[in-house]
Amino acid sequence: MTATFDFSGKQVFVFGGTSGINLGIAESFAAAGADVAVASRSQEKVDAAVELLGKAGGKARGYALDVRDADAVEAALADHAEAAGGVDVLISGAAGNFPALANGMSPNAFKSVVDIDLLGSFHVLRAAFPHLNKPGASVINISAPQAFLAMPMQSHVCAAKAGVDMLTRTLALEWGPLGVRINSIAPGPIADTEGMRRLAPTKEIERQCIASVPVRRLGTVSEIGDAAMFLSSPAAAYVNGVVLPVDGGWSVAGASAAALAMTSPHMS
Ligand code: NAP
Ligand code: COA
Repeated sequence: MTATFDFSGKQVFVFGGTSGINLGIAESFAAAGADVAVASRSQEKVDAAVELLGKAGGKARGYALDVRDADAVEAALADHAEAAGGVDVLISGAAGNFPALANGMSPNAFKSVVDIDLLGSFHVLRAAFPHLNKPGASVINISAPQAFLAMPMQSHVCAAKAGVDMLTRTLALEWGPLGVRINSIAPGPIADTEGMRRLAPTKEIERQCIASVPVRRLGTVSEIGDAAMFLSSPAAAYVNGVVLPVDGGWSVAGASAAALAMTSPHMS
């Protein structure tokens, strides 16, 4: 069930918004009346998302780019701002993940995730700032429980997402006085996503994961969309600089036990 919000006339830009959780967020805003732009590397995925979002609500626009390319991110945001008149809601969610032991990973493997998740988020936030409609803009970084739960096979993601959350907190201090709120959402295990396909590739690992979630089920992409709309709505006008877990209580359910249930089967 999707909550009711009205984002008619608002401009939303979702980086990494062409599949999974971020596409779900884009669809939620489109269904609530917003014009939505998405960006990711694959032109094919961008085209498919634009077609889907166009059917869901307002105008849709897409950009094929890599968030590791600061110039490409800057150009897309400038183009979007000129065409659409700025950005009311910015979502930074592009990310990479694969399970690997730290001592089994090449320097480039670790770097690729940090470059996409952390440096890529910085590129997006920095380039978007001049185009954010102030006061009133809402910025959301898509984080993960790995930012505050140590998980084996996830050193790259833990380090990168912890950095993303510190960007959220730091920019809440810098941008709050200018009328821009910035928060993180840390989704728990979400059904039918690439992240779950990579971290819980078998029914047995998925079953163990579900057993470690207090509400005893996986989350849905629309539940993350609801949280993103809440954080960007007037109902959250005084919420700034928080990391909001949307995880059925997973991150408080004996934190390390929950994390181990997810990733330790990869080690056997
Ligand atoms: P996903 O479908 O693979 O989403 C990742 C998105 O980012 C895709 O649109 C991908 O499209 C894009 N992307 C990847 N690398 C990029 C790059 N270098 N430049 C630009 N775009 C890039 O995975 P997901 O599982 O839904 O994850 C979405 C977000 O939720 C991520 O931030 C992830 O860390 C977070 N999260 C997921 C879960 C979960 O249960 N799935 C849990 C916690 C947090 P292209 O391939 O076209 O680039
Ligand atoms: N284990 C160990 N190392 C791995 C790996 C794995 N499973 N997968 C990739 N790598 C290494 C590669 O070998 C390479 O290192 P090398 O140059 O020393 O050989 C490095 O990571 C970069 O890989 P490459 O495929 O060139 O990077 P890319 O930029 O094309 O892709 C990834 C980035 C690796 C993060 C890729 O998985 C991706 O595109 N992910 C996006 C989708 C996703 O992860 N969704 C879930 C989000 S939660």
